[in-house]
Amino acid sequence: MRIVSGIQPTGSLHLGNYLGAIRNWVRMQDEVAASGGESLYFLADLHALSQPHDPAQLTANTREMVAALLACGIDPAKSVLFNQAQVPAHVELQWLLNGTARFGWLSRMTQFKDKAGKNRDGVSAALFTYPVLQAADVLLYQTTHVPVGDDQKQHLELARDIAQKFNNDFAHEDAPVFTLPEPIIPPEAARIMSLRDGAAKMSKSDPSDMSRINLTDDADTIMQKIKKAKTDPAPLPSDKAGLEGRAEAANLVGIYAAMAGTSVDTVLAQFGGEGFGKFKPALGELLTETLAPINARFVELRADRAALDAVLRDGGARARELAAPTLAAAYSALGLLRG
Ligand code: TYM
Repeated sequence: MRIVSGIQPTGSLHLGNYLGAIRNWVRMQDEVAASGGESLYFLADLHALSQPHDPAQLTANTREMVAALLACGIDPAKSVLFNQAQVPAHVELQWLLNGTARFGWLSRMTQFKDKAGKNRDGVSAALFTYPVLQAADVLLYQTTHVPVGDDQKQHLELARDIAQKFNNDFAHEDAPVFTLPEPIIPPEAARIMSLRDGAAKMSKSDPSDMSRINLTDDADTIMQKIKKAKTDPAPLPSDKAGLEGRAEAANLVGIYAAMAGTSVDTVLAQFGGEGFGKFKPALGELLTETLAPINARFVELRADRAALDAVLRDGGARARELAAPTLAAAYSALGLLRG
């Protein structure tokens, strides 16, 4: 097994990232290490260039995000942890894959359509070609599995399409250049929604901080955000079917279930018939209890910049080694002379 996944260092780590992806990264690093495989986790700092950004802020966010990942339990002794910019092979492979990715495939990416909106002429070219860099991130390492939230599924399908076409066009049937990666999406927390709007996903880019729980929020802030979370006036139903058409209620119950490591039906067996006046404080407490130790570790780790930079430097060196054979195979398959 070879696990690879990434996160953009463009804001703080929130509950959607944690439940949708990072918690799985931590679980899988142990499984993979035990079975002799390898896991690589990275900060997608190159992806951050696809949107307007402030360079000093990007550097600060990159350090904050690595501290947050370490606080969540990513262990550099078990996983290769780095930022993309340390491994130029990501950018090189993106260019090589740009010849294979089709314009029409990229035009259909829903994240591009959402982020570009009506201003297609004004967005960066990087926003459009971003999914090819994401394909390179994964294909560079012969990745077998990619733990992500549901919103990354389409990007992963594109990576498979690119790999398949490249193998067909340029590799011998018995010696494919790329492995086709499988997404791993947690069923109970595939898409955590905003606390202010049950139709929008929880996101780093939402202008309202009340829409998300950051892993760096203190106990009072968490409780405040949960109490103010949008809901409806009806009591909680006693089974999952009763949450139909109640997006905000379904989201809060889903968060509770994911945090407690149980099912939505089990949560409703306990809280069915109760109002949010009882459920919200219970959810706030569960979140506070689980996140407090992560928060404390984060504050400690964040203070030691030199140690954070050393983690990224060491991870970068290891990632460069792991990336080299596939990059060389891709150059060679395309008939490009080197050396
Ligand atoms: P990013 O930084 O938006 O999110 C990081 C991870 O968190 C998951 N996630 C969520 N899961 C559930 N509910 C939510 N509300 C929620 N919000 C975010 C995302 O699915 C993701 O797994 N393009 C990627 C980063 C990336 C990448 C890669 C991922 C770059 N290269 C290669 C995997 C493989 C992104 O912007 O994720």
